[in-house]
Amino acid sequence: MALNLPSIRADFPILSRILPSGRQLVYLDNAATTQKPKAVIQAMTDYYENNNSNVHRAVHTLAGEATDAYEKGRQDIADWFFVDREQVIFTSGTTEAINLVVHAWGRANLKKGDVVLVTEMEHHADIVPWQLIAKERGIEIRFVSVDPVTYRLNMDEFEASIDEVSFVGCVHTSNVLGTRNPVEEIIEMAHSRGNHGKGARVLIDCAQASPHERLNLTELNADFVAVSGHKMCGPTGIGGLIVKPEMLDEMQPFMAGGDMIEEVFLDHSTFQTGPYRFEAGTPKIAEAIGWGVAINYLSQFDMHEVHQHIHDLAAHTADKISKIPGIKVYGDHSDPTCSGVVSFLHETIHAEDLAHFLDLGGFAVRTGHHCAQPLMRKLGITATNRTSFYLYNTQEEADAFITHLERVVGRLTR
Ligand SMILES: Cc1ncc(COP(=O)(O)O)c(C=O)c1O
Repeated sequence: MALNLPSIRADFPILSRILPSGRQLVYLDNAATTQKPKAVIQAMTDYYENNNSNVHRAVHTLAGEATDAYEKGRQDIADWFFVDREQVIFTSGTTEAINLVVHAWGRANLKKGDVVLVTEMEHHADIVPWQLIAKERGIEIRFVSVDPVTYRLNMDEFEASIDEVSFVGCVHTSNVLGTRNPVEEIIEMAHSRGNHGKGARVLIDCAQASPHERLNLTELNADFVAVSGHKMCGPTGIGGLIVKPEMLDEMQPFMAGGDMIEEVFLDHSTFQTGPYRFEAGTPKIAEAIGWGVAINYLSQFDMHEVHQHIHDLAAHTADKISKIPGIKVYGDHSDPTCSGVVSFLHETIHAEDLAHFLDLGGFAVRTGHHCAQPLMRKLGITATNRTSFYLYNTQEEADAFITHLERVVGRLTR
């Protein structure tokens, strides 16, 4: 059954926004953050109007309601990802989730000479935190390269290193290329051949995968998975680190303070168990509630259909704009697993100039290095323009974008 786009679009008030240019918004920056349906906005407003209180502390009515709603958010997220609620640690997003792994697991387990293997396709969030701990601990970071023609990871390099590796970090789906990596194979190989006790531990960055794949994280079997709520219709400021239960025992507290303790003495403290051990201070209560509602919103759709819709718009756009003189598209959009991002660059028009002209036409696209400078260097460029589609985007919007881009390029290169 095809997605009912008029009905879906009516759920997202911002999509009817008229911009200062007088143009109606065509929002094509979904890989950066998706728009929010009314249900999410209303749930958060409702929480602030009726239940706002701190959680896990007081016994008054509002405290109980806020705690129940916050913990329901955790349960909704656990159900969506096919894990137990104790496996969901709330963070501010993927970035904080990866930093939590580096500091809570990495500091407790990695020692001088250990090897962490990541890829050239990583977002900075899965490179820079490792660089910080590597310098401090004498850890070696190795990179699996990306083929600049096929836009895929060099799996021979992965295999050549894996026997010496204690930890693998890999992006599930690239925010620049749309490439879906063979994460199942990577996890299996890391566990069976890696060099940390019974195998290397694996972190998968699912920031771009979770918006259009119904990930079964129990089946996926990664030790750590990082996700962002705001890229899947949820509010900003919330995401999660989803861990295998046994990983909780391998992690030491990182952020310390209220809520994560059991008892505090002047000379030592004892800590809560489960995810609470890693959630110090007042948590993101309205945001957790909003993310749960976003996930319930998405659960009305068949995510295979959602992916197909997004992929088809991206593949169509990539095909058409690659024929505009001077435009190069990065990524293999003929691959049916490729996501909804289309990165492109004109050979003479600066990406930022192009983005301004697109904005004047109402088209919101991303410009820059997309927090992936090592990948940009591999591609021999410093920036791209990037359109990225989501479930509410239409064929008409994609076609209007293609026509406008053709017109702008024609005018600027006359
Ligand atoms: C692949 C990938 N990893 C990590 C991040 C960081 O996510 P956040 O900014 O929500 O922490 C992003 C955001 O664009 C991303 O696309």
